[in-house]
Amino acid sequence: MSEPSPRKIIRELPDVLISQIAAGEVVERPASVVRELVDNALDAGARQISLRLLGGGIRLISVEDDGCGIPVEEMPVALKRHATSKIVSLEDLESVATMGFRGEALAAINAVSEMSLLSRIDGAPSAFLLDGQTGEIKPAARAVGTTVEVKELFFSTPARRHFLKSENTELAHCIEAVRRHALARPEVGFAIWHEGKIIEQWRSHPGEAGWNQRLADVLGEDFVAASVNIDFRSGPVHVRGRAGTPDAARARADQQFAYVNGRFVRDKVITHGARSAYEDVLHGHRQPVYVLYLQMDPTRVDVNVHPTKIEVRFRDSREVHQAMRHAIESALAVPRANLLSNNAPVSPAGNASSFAPANPFLSPPPGSLNALQPSASQATWSQRGMAFGAERSQQDPATAMAELKALWGDAPRQLAAMEGPVSSDAEAAAQAWPLGRAIAQLQGVYILAENSQGLVVVDMHAAHERIVYERLKQQLDTTHITSQPLLIPASFSATPQEMATAENCTEVLAQLGLEVSALSVKTLAVRAVPTSLAQGDAVELTRSVLAELAQHDAATVVQRAQNEILATMACHGAVRANRKLTLDEMNALLRQMEATERSDQCNHGRPTWRQVSLRELDALFLRGR
Ligand SMILES: Nc1ncnc2c1ncn2[C@@H]1O[C@H](COP(=O)(O)OP(=O)(O)OP(=O)(O)O)[C@@H](O)[C@H]1O
Ligand SMILES: [Mg+2]
Repeated sequence: MSEPSPRKIIRELPDVLISQIAAGEVVERPASVVRELVDNALDAGARQISLRLLGGGIRLISVEDDGCGIPVEEMPVALKRHATSKIVSLEDLESVATMGFRGEALAAINAVSEMSLLSRIDGAPSAFLLDGQTGEIKPAARAVGTTVEVKELFFSTPARRHFLKSENTELAHCIEAVRRHALARPEVGFAIWHEGKIIEQWRSHPGEAGWNQRLADVLGEDFVAASVNIDFRSGPVHVRGRAGTPDAARARADQQFAYVNGRFVRDKVITHGARSAYEDVLHGHRQPVYVLYLQMDPTRVDVNVHPTKIEVRFRDSREVHQAMRHAIESALAVPRANLLSNNAPVSPAGNASSFAPANPFLSPPPGSLNALQPSASQATWSQRGMAFGAERSQQDPATAMAELKALWGDAPRQLAAMEGPVSSDAEAAAQAWPLGRAIAQLQGVYILAENSQGLVVVDMHAAHERIVYERLKQQLDTTHITSQPLLIPASFSATPQEMATAENCTEVLAQLGLEVSALSVKTLAVRAVPTSLAQGDAVELTRSVLAELAQHDAATVVQRAQNEILATMACHGAVRANRKLTLDEMNALLRQMEATERSDQCNHGRPTWRQVSLRELDALFLRGR
């Protein structure tokens, strides 16, 4: 007798099971239901959305809106799979502007819960209530709009229910889902109730000014105070929103909100673009914070790639990456000292508000920030900053190094006027300088300066390092890294990946000052390395560059490697601790800081200066003012 065949008969699944399987993709936990129902309310044009929960959303989720409602004859259709009012054709799908488009959500939720739909449209004699289990419809009472009630989630699929976490955890996820919506739609009011108590309420803030108010409501005033405005167009991509200063970065990536055409997304291209904008200013593994809204023609992004719509695919991911990177980078480049108000105590730590937005899209929340318009003197300083940047000379690195050694020689001349007793003119000028007038050097490490707000403390090595680094970067923009041949080539056995990369990227490697060639099918030889790194381990350097090249596109690697080499050079070139500086030299350094991009952080992301306000000093001495 032969073995029984392992094959089983092919049959069609029963409808209920089909729906439950499909629901598995859409509804993972109470928060998924919340997200779908709020999506629907927003698509219906709601101005006020209330969420009521019991048991972290496991026992009950009710979403009530004041949107357009559903006509009674369409209510049963709304619960069917693949039934939607939002698209009718493939063309519609390709340019979809609503949150929903699949006609799946209500059907999926209905398949794994006890659901009811209560809705009324304008002009109807009453509201109607549809029982999702029985399909029974009866008249009911409510104003125009819709309430969806979802009870006992996963009651029919107990295995699923076991995957749920504690009520508190599920509740936290539900709140997070609403937060994401709330950040994108300040004109809509939101309220969240749990077990009969109101736990969050974000009032509607219509108009452009509403954005900052909503950000402050949801993420706190601190977020707004410690972030800069973004409004940047790059090709077909428009990026708006706010990005946190490096000091506002957090240990976890839990305040990174990105939206594409109003939809919250988690996207590698966006995250990486943002991350790379912070690369040069962020310390260690700190995570930046931001809320950014990307707008682009809907046909440039495919929203139909993920069952919960949290991922998208861009037609041109490079253009999105660049837009993100440049949007944040350019906003962060402006030294914060130049944005200081003359009467607000501010430090780059962002513990106070200092931001004067350039456009009405994100203006400061009323009351807290509106006293902070840039003064005429600040404008002058930022203009000088720009002029400084425009002066860039295009020298080779050797000249650049020579120049940076001479840096301390040339700057004080411009400041000869500072010598001698301080005239009232000079004092006035000092008041206008964001970083103030140098008064002393402390322990060979810090520069102390006086500005309109009090005391400024500068870490002179860190600050100078950044200045030298930015200068080198500008000078090297168009030139190559010089390389030095090795006396004896360093060979190593390479992986197939490394072999392939070395072969494909000879030119990029040369740009980086590396000459790498194959000795055999499994061996690579390093024949030349960047002059500035000639002392290091050639093989290790080559391997890490090859690994980077395999992962990222060549342009990014070249830029990053150049920056890293420059950072090393800058560290050597910057003034050392314990070097005595004259007041002129200190003032020259302060002025250069004001005119240098990213000068609030050293090359390793540490702060270069801090403000100690008069108020803080007074507090130290218990002095009531
Ligand atoms: N709160 C609401 N107010 C008005 N109409 C609604 C509401 N919720 C659902 N509808 C109607 O019911 C239909 C089905 O909703 P459902 O969420 O299942 O699908 P969808 O939103 O069209 O697509 P998706 O599955 O992508 O969410 C919607 O197209 C809409 O016409
Ligand atoms: Mg929907």
